[in-house]
Amino acid sequence: MNSVLSVNNIHKVYHTTKAEIEAIKDITFNVNQGDFIAIVGPSGCGKSTLLSILNGQENVTSGKIDYHHKTIGYMLQDDALFDWLTVLDNCLIGLKIKKQLTKENKEYVLNLLDKYGLKDFINSYPRNLSGGMRKRVALIRTLATKPDILLMDEPFSALDFQSRLKISNDVYQILKEENKTLILVTHDISEAVTLCEKVLVLSKRPSTIKNIYSIFYSQKTLPSSKRTALEFNDYYQQIWRDIDHE
Ligand SMILES: Nc1ncnc2c1ncn2[C@@H]1O[C@H](COP(=O)(O)OP(=O)(O)OP(=O)(O)O)[C@@H](O)[C@H]1O
Ligand SMILES: [Mg+2]
Repeated sequence: MNSVLSVNNIHKVYHTTKAEIEAIKDITFNVNQGDFIAIVGPSGCGKSTLLSILNGQENVTSGKIDYHHKTIGYMLQDDALFDWLTVLDNCLIGLKIKKQLTKENKEYVLNLLDKYGLKDFINSYPRNLSGGMRKRVALIRTLATKPDILLMDEPFSALDFQSRLKISNDVYQILKEENKTLILVTHDISEAVTLCEKVLVLSKRPSTIKNIYSIFYSQKTLPSSKRTALEFNDYYQQIWRDIDHE
């Protein structure tokens, strides 16, 4: 297996004027090319901290991350689309900032917009799109700079249930097709066990890894259909029992 990211004995303490908060005690895991990994755990256990560290926004107190020369793209809960820019310009903004807006890269973005059902909306503004479409635009904007690994922090939590099912399928298809690696933080165990093939369960703060589950379905289907598969309930129950409920 081709490792794209190794996280080795990460420890993180936040220092504020009032206190020291130990967010992460000790986390080690490896990510291989093409892995879809979900991270679940109780509220406040350090999931967003872990993603911010992987993204380079936060420093570690100790430990080491090896990126193996791979690049990272980050998608947050809030899609952060600019209201005053068209769909196309929103998708090109990262390339502009990085001064990589070549003809070839623009073609790549236009092709993604076309392939994933947004062709007729490239000149529309975000306010004219549904929640699910906005997520697809945000995803294409993240893909524009061709990151190897995508980090997502609760990306669908603001959507209604039907839209979540739909966008889970879309994201799954798009990222598999584009041959990406995914690390997804979610509160939703059913989302974790249908979208990802590996689930990391974190303990309560300061977090450690309680368990790593390999998820396997005998039928290869889209995430929404896995919810009715035989294996779904077992994975759901096991992981639910594993999470520290206060
Ligand atoms: N910038 C910061 N400064 C100080 N403490 C912080 C900072 N960011 C997070 N924390 C603290 O670190 C701990 C972990 O927070 P984090 O946001 O990583 O948890 P989480 O698992 O993402 O929570 P949630 O499930 O609610 O999103 C919390 O106690 C939080 O208050
Ligand atoms: Mg969080």
